[in-house]
Amino acid sequence: MIIAPSLLAGDFGKLSAEAKRAERAGGDWLHLDVMDGHFVPNITFGPDVVKTLRAQVKMFFDVHLMCSRPEILLEPFVDAGADQIIIHSELDDKVPELIWKVKSMDCRVGLAINPPAVVEAAEPHLDQLDLLLVMTVNPGFGGQSFIRECLPKIQQAWDWRQNRGLGYRIEVDGGVTAKTAPDCAKMGADAFVSGTGLFGKRNMKAAVKKLRESVEQNRRLTLAAAG
Ligand code: DX5
Ligand code: ZN
Repeated sequence: MIIAPSLLAGDFGKLSAEAKRAERAGGDWLHLDVMDGHFVPNITFGPDVVKTLRAQVKMFFDVHLMCSRPEILLEPFVDAGADQIIIHSELDDKVPELIWKVKSMDCRVGLAINPPAVVEAAEPHLDQLDLLLVMTVNPGFGGQSFIRECLPKIQQAWDWRQNRGLGYRIEVDGGVTAKTAPDCAKMGADAFVSGTGLFGKRNMKAAVKKLRESVEQNRRLTLAAAG
């Protein structure tokens, strides 16, 4: 199970120190939310910031692009040290080419689906993906409430993976805490992004541990075939 603290909830006045705090706390991936003020009504940071952080921490960089024109950003983020780039299914016709481009740079690729979208929007791309991100809030801001209606999408993503013998991870992002994560784990999620729920805690190490335990105890297991 992957725990991915989201730096969006960190103190923007000391991002390197916050990234190190997430690493020391035992986070597996650092989730980096890139917002362009167009795809979502908020702006965060670009490749130069990611490059600066790359020099400070060894964590796997999970870069979530909430941008209308990701095609101009893929190479800069890979060069900056992204280990995985997530693009949004809402980009429709652009998606196949974006996936191909990320993979061609030897970077892992994820596809995100927003709460209003059906999970079937991701279906044509599943065999290309390293990760499917089921958004559990409408993207743009941290600290929003978890949208429970998204849970069945996780279950469907897990069923497809199982039935088709695929290997993508299933990540959830938005309002994920030790209270909401167990239900995601039961449905089949195995990567958990959490911003406010981790960075907002004085003892982040204890918060990571609590979140990890809450999902480990509820992981969805594959039943061995009878006989
Ligand atoms: C929301 C971002 C999330 C955000 C989650 O648009 O994609 O990664 O940081 O924050 P919390 O965990 O506070 O909901
Ligand atoms: Zn995110």
